[in-house]
Amino acid sequence: MWLARLLTQAGAEVDVVMTRAAREFVGAVTFEAVTGRPVHHEIFGAGHALDHITLAREAHTLVVAPATADFLARATHGHADDLLTACLLAADSPVLLVPAMNDRMWNHAQTRRNVAQARELGYRVIDPDEGPLAVGEGSGPGRMPEPDHIMAHIGRALERGGALAGKSLLVTAGATREAIDPVRFISNHSSGKMGIAIARAAWRRGADVTLVAGHVDVPLPSEIFVVHASTAAEMTTVLEEKLPAADVLVMAAAPADFRPAAPDAQKIKKKGAAPSIALEHTDDILRTTAGRRKTGSVIVGFALETNDGVANARTKLKEKDLDLIVLNTAGEAGSGFGTDTNRVTLLSRDGEQEDVALMAKTDVAEVLLDRIETLLRGR
Ligand code: CTP
Repeated sequence: MWLARLLTQAGAEVDVVMTRAAREFVGAVTFEAVTGRPVHHEIFGAGHALDHITLAREAHTLVVAPATADFLARATHGHADDLLTACLLAADSPVLLVPAMNDRMWNHAQTRRNVAQARELGYRVIDPDEGPLAVGEGSGPGRMPEPDHIMAHIGRALERGGALAGKSLLVTAGATREAIDPVRFISNHSSGKMGIAIARAAWRRGADVTLVAGHVDVPLPSEIFVVHASTAAEMTTVLEEKLPAADVLVMAAAPADFRPAAPDAQKIKKKGAAPSIALEHTDDILRTTAGRRKTGSVIVGFALETNDGVANARTKLKEKDLDLIVLNTAGEAGSGFGTDTNRVTLLSRDGEQEDVALMAKTDVAEVLLDRIETLLRGR
């Protein structure tokens, strides 16, 4: 129900097809109210003989949520004795199955086989979440994933092969934390929002995304593979390992530039004189890992500046050997750390400059990925 509502709110035209089992749980009228469109369930009734063909042809994607164990069995064996299974056979757009069932049913060898076969047939099957199941049934795999997770998968299913599809993309996000002692650290205000928005949008566009996350203030996307790196040194190590396979690197993280030279193994006690903390430079990650880049890959950096933004960003572009740099100006209203919006300027290796209007970080991510796709097409 919430999925139909979310999709309708997002601007989709949602046609709901209900199985007999579904109608025992929810009334068709409720779905009509949510989607503003008639609900379908008849396959052989007068005036409905071609419904399965028309519905399947018109849909840009078919989503079955929840997909029960029985449905998986029938769908993978090509049944077509109700409207939903008939639609599946008549569809040539992507089909997304969202299984939800008891954990023992999910783990049964027959269900495992059906899921494997569904994937072989080209259906996209989302793994269920782990957690509390129906009353008295304890906890285990089988729960319907969160709305955000399913919506992300639907977004990816709706994309039509852009230049990022199938490409391997590495995105860093958030702040690193450099220890002063076991309880204190040096860090910065990076929230990770911009990097996460880029990772999500690239995943939706079909890229194979790894998000290297420092400390972030927002939830990490469940659809994306995340590697944690809490210090600049750890982030360097992760990039050393992952960069050779990456077609694109987007370095949106704010790694610390300095760290305490000799972090204390024990908590520094407050009694006595306040300590002075000697700092040393961390690695410039983009520079130190430059030798690990894949030939022909697209490398994107960010620049956070308070003054002489364009000139400073151009210097960074050159010194860090980047294809594109995204300039943010610190202290500008609606821009920079923690906000949901950003106003950026894109500067490219070949000297182009694009001033992008103030917009949501999710939209900035789309603009940036459009530019990255253009660069990839030229490679
Ligand atoms: N960066 C990096 N390693 C660091 C610090 C930054 O790879 N230790 C990356 C950032 O992720 C960003 C780019 O370098 O993509 C520019 O970061 P920025 O903080 O703007 O510049 P710095 O190189 O740190 O230079 P300065 O702080 O002097 O402006």
